Amino acid sequence: MGFNITYLPGDGVGPEVAGAARLVAEKAAEKFALSLAFHEFPFGGAAIDTHDDPFPSVTRRACAEADAVLLGAVGGPKWDGGPVRPEAGLLDLRKMLGLYANLRPIRIMAGMEALSPLKAARARDVDILFVRELTGGIYFGKRIEGDEHASDECAYSREEVERVARVAFEAAHARKGRLASVDKANVLATSRLWRSVVNALHKSDYSDVELEHVLVDAMAMKLIQQPAAFDVVLTENMFGDILSDEASVIIGSIGLAPSASLGRGKAGLYEAIHGSAPDIAGQDKANPAGAILSAAMMFRHSFDAEAPAQAIEEAVEAVLAAGHGTADIGGDDGCAAFSERVVAQLAN
Ligand code: IPM
Ligand code: MG
Repeated sequence: MGFNITYLPGDGVGPEVAGAARLVAEKAAEKFALSLAFHEFPFGGAAIDTHDDPFPSVTRRACAEADAVLLGAVGGPKWDGGPVRPEAGLLDLRKMLGLYANLRPIRIMAGMEALSPLKAARARDVDILFVRELTGGIYFGKRIEGDEHASDECAYSREEVERVARVAFEAAHARKGRLASVDKANVLATSRLWRSVVNALHKSDYSDVELEHVLVDAMAMKLIQQPAAFDVVLTENMFGDILSDEASVIIGSIGLAPSASLGRGKAGLYEAIHGSAPDIAGQDKANPAGAILSAAMMFRHSFDAEAPAQAIEEAVEAVLAAGHGTADIGGDDGCAAFSERVVAQLAN
């Protein structure tokens, strides 16, 4: 089987971590007799530099036609104050491909509790799947810029809530059967719509899933107090952005956290949840684990290839369990050395 991957290294540490993910994906494909073709395109700040556009039309076409998009990261202070931000390209890409469901697994690997700033007893057994709505809400509402007054509209339709809630219910059904839906229904109209749509879907199609509603401020606390109590967590766009960064701290580093963004079809976007980390860019310091684990999700969700996905995940876990890692998790490896270890482990 052959798959076309649009490869967008982007900015900051993006090229380093995406390069690692690509290398590992190529090795995994070789091992499982799949053929992957990577096609590189400019994106984000790098594309502003060359094309005056964070998401140029050549890149747009390549993303629309690909089986999957593998992305490094976008953004950096270099493009502050410019006419268009690198991040606008990423939002455009998510919207263009209709990737409304962003899956962000946060799982503490067995024996790795010491990486967590939480006491081991609290960190143990943390295994959460965040399902973050990705193409609506305040990220895409009407925006008014200004020096005296500015506003950002947050809007959701029933259909937008229902389709992402369905993804979360399905995931909960396939996992431990529990779903926590996050909102701010005590203040926001969009949250009251959110809650009523989730309740209706629960009643009609997923009454076997145990559902609770948690206010976003309480969720910020509960994630630290009892993270192991959660199974699937469903959020709107911005709440998911914030809570998934918070949750990534529990597993020891945001550098370990992968993501998959999916829509109606099989094509998806795969990126670590961290940003472009311009302060350490080009120094071989970035943790590529999140990007590599995102490549594993690409095999699983876009290529229906579970074996290579698991092989990559097991290789990363084995390397970490052997005590290797980048500086963010207290290790001595550079980005390249860590990736080489994963590749060597995969060859076993
Ligand atoms: C993320 C990032 C993006 C977001 C930025 C870079 C636009 O923080 O993927 O979590 O806010 O969605
Ligand atoms: Mg974020």
